[in-house]
Parts: sequence; C-alpha cells; structure tokens
Amino acid sequence: MIKAKPEVEQLTPYVAPLEGRRSMLRLDFNENTVGPSPKVVEAIRNLPPHAYTTYPEYAGLTEAFAAAVGVPADHVAAFNGVDGAIRAIFDAYGEKGSTFLSTVPTFGYYKPCAQQQGMVMDEIPYLPDLRYPLDAIALRLKANPRLFFVCNPNNPTGTLLAPETIVALAQAAPHTLVVVDELYVAFTGQSVLPAALALENVVALHSLSKSAGMAALRLGFAVGHPTVVERLSRVTGPYDINTFAVVAGKAALAAPDDTQQYVAQVLAAKTWTIEQLHRCGVRYFADGGNYVLVWPPGDCERMVQALQKRGVLVRSMTGKPVIDGSFRLTVGPLEHMQQFMTVFAEVIRCETRGLSITHEKSDQSKRIR
Ligand SMILES: Cc1ncc(COP(=O)(O)O)c(C=O)c1O
Repeated sequence: MIKAKPEVEQLTPYVAPLEGRRSMLRLDFNENTVGPSPKVVEAIRNLPPHAYTTYPEYAGLTEAFAAAVGVPADHVAAFNGVDGAIRAIFDAYGEKGSTFLSTVPTFGYYKPCAQQQGMVMDEIPYLPDLRYPLDAIALRLKANPRLFFVCNPNNPTGTLLAPETIVALAQAAPHTLVVVDELYVAFTGQSVLPAALALENVVALHSLSKSAGMAALRLGFAVGHPTVVERLSRVTGPYDINTFAVVAGKAALAAPDDTQQYVAQVLAAKTWTIEQLHRCGVRYFADGGNYVLVWPPGDCERMVQALQKRGVLVRSMTGKPVIDGSFRLTVGPLEHMQQFMTVFAEVIRCETRGLSITHEKSDQSKRIR
C-alpha cells in the first residue's frame, strides 16, 4: 500500500449517515423538508442538451448572489457548497503547524479539514448552558491563531452570537482569518455582512443548501475582502460547480419570496414545536437556525432508533461534548412537525414504560428565535 501523507493516515474522516433516507421524514440534516422553489425545478427541466455537453459558464452567478445580499460582486466567490469554500479556506490559509481555533461541539467538517493540513487544534467547549465561550475565545485570539471559525448560529447547538460581537473579535485579531459560517442566516436574519466587509480578515459563508432547498445541487458562497476571495479562487478547480447548480442558483436567487415563505413557515413551526416540547416536559435547547436540540427521556440512542423504525429521522448527538444525550431535530413546516410530535409522543410512551422518569424541565429552554 502506498501511504497517504501522515496527516491523512491519522485522519478520522467526517462521515454522515446519508443513505436510504428518501422515504422517511428527514429531520436529521437541517435540510429543507419540502423542496426548492418550483422555478428552480423548471429552470433545470428547461435546460437544452448542450447544457449537458459543455463545461459550465459562470457569468452572472456571483453578481446575482452579491445583489441578493447587498455586497459588491468582487467580494464574492462561489463554491461547490459551503463545504467547498471551507476546503478552499484550509487549502489556502491552513499552514502546517499553525493554530486552528474553534469551539466544540460545532460543525464536524472543520476539524478534518484542519487536521489534513497538519494544523494544531484549539477547540473551546461551549459553556454548560450552551452559551458561547466568549471570554475564553477572546483570550485565545490574543495568541494570533492562523484561522478562527465561528459557526453562527452554531450547528448543532443553535447558539447565536450578535454579529457586532463577532466583528469586535475580528477587529481585535487582525492577524487571524476569521471565518463566520452563516449557513443558517436565512432563519436568523443576523449577519456580519455588510459591516464585516470593512475588515480584511473576515470571510462569511452562505449557502443555498438549506433554506433554498438545494442541498443536492451544491452551491455555496464566500464573502470577504477581494484579496482573500481571490486567494480562495486560486485553490479551486475551474469547473468545481456544475451547470445545474449554476442554473438552479440563479433561479433561486431570482425567487427570494419562495425562500422567504419557507423560512416563515419554519419559524412558525419552530415556535409550535418548542411549545409542544415544553408541554411534554422534555428538555430542549433552541436558539438560532431551523433546528432544536432535544434530550429525550431514557436512552437517546434507543429513542433515535425507535423514531427511525417509525419513519422519522433525527440526528443523535450521543457522545458529543456538552450535549451528550440529545438529538438534533430539524424543523420543517407545521405539518412535518405535527407528524414528528405524534411519533415522538408514541415513542416516549413505548420506550419509557416501566422507567421512572423525572421529566427534566430545562433551565436552558429559554432562548427562542
Ligand atoms: C454549519 C454548516 N456549515 C456548512 C455546511 C455545509 O453546507 P453546504 O451544503 O453548503 O456544503 C453545513 C451543512 O450541514 C452546516 O451545517
């Protein structure tokens, strides 16, 4: 066997359980549970055969996104999903032996990307009540880490920092590239943009995967200083984004009302879901994003499997620091959450029969957005 480079030989890859989900109620990956705008589907259906045979053309894509977000187009680059942007950031800036500062638990793809580059990990845990470890991060930034990622709102906790707080952290750390992963910004309305454009060391990441319902097509954007964005483009392939994503992305960006309507439905359903969880006496944590953490009574893994047997997928957080014993529940429109609550109530009845459970009411269940 020819060994890969040492960092890769030692790597634990990011593996997501993504197979065989199509026939289920998918509340496990924070996807849109309904579908994209009909205009997106129509745009793809209308593509002529030469759209398949020719390499993609990108004209107008970053411009359309820039106009939607209200930033100049030279501050924007498109990627094969935000995952592609994350990879590019580590390829361009993740020097071997330099420090990658982030929090834990957070989005699981950052860590293997940093490790592949031979970076030194500095992961600060969220506080026990799932607040952001702001003081510890501010202190660590004084040591000038090479890269600092803030997932805002954080996946999986939902913890949301005020954009001004992030901008202040970045201002205090001019030698650190500060990456603000705002994948769920459509559900919070809170962004470091446009304020962060004044800084040379901030990159914000946005995606059409979740709110716009295009996870399969893979289209994400990085927004930052033109010099940074240009360096990211240097390390990506010339055709990394496929034609279907380009066409669909333009159609989605031209139909913002459809996305906003979905977001409004999700936010209403989130309030309803939280009320129901509260009523059941189940511990939960909800802040930003189209998801909620739920600590089911009894054994979490058993509960997740019992839900799965009944056709409902949620993402187990078993073994994760700070949030062990919980699962992440994606919020879709009301109809889907009603289906979830019916099945969840049944699972609680069946799985906890004979168990003496004190339904713990969380002191963390206060922050609802
Ligand atoms: C915080 C966060 N960042 C990035 C991604 C990847 O996004 P994309 O589908 O645009 O690659 C996800 C997907 O779940 C995520 O939750």
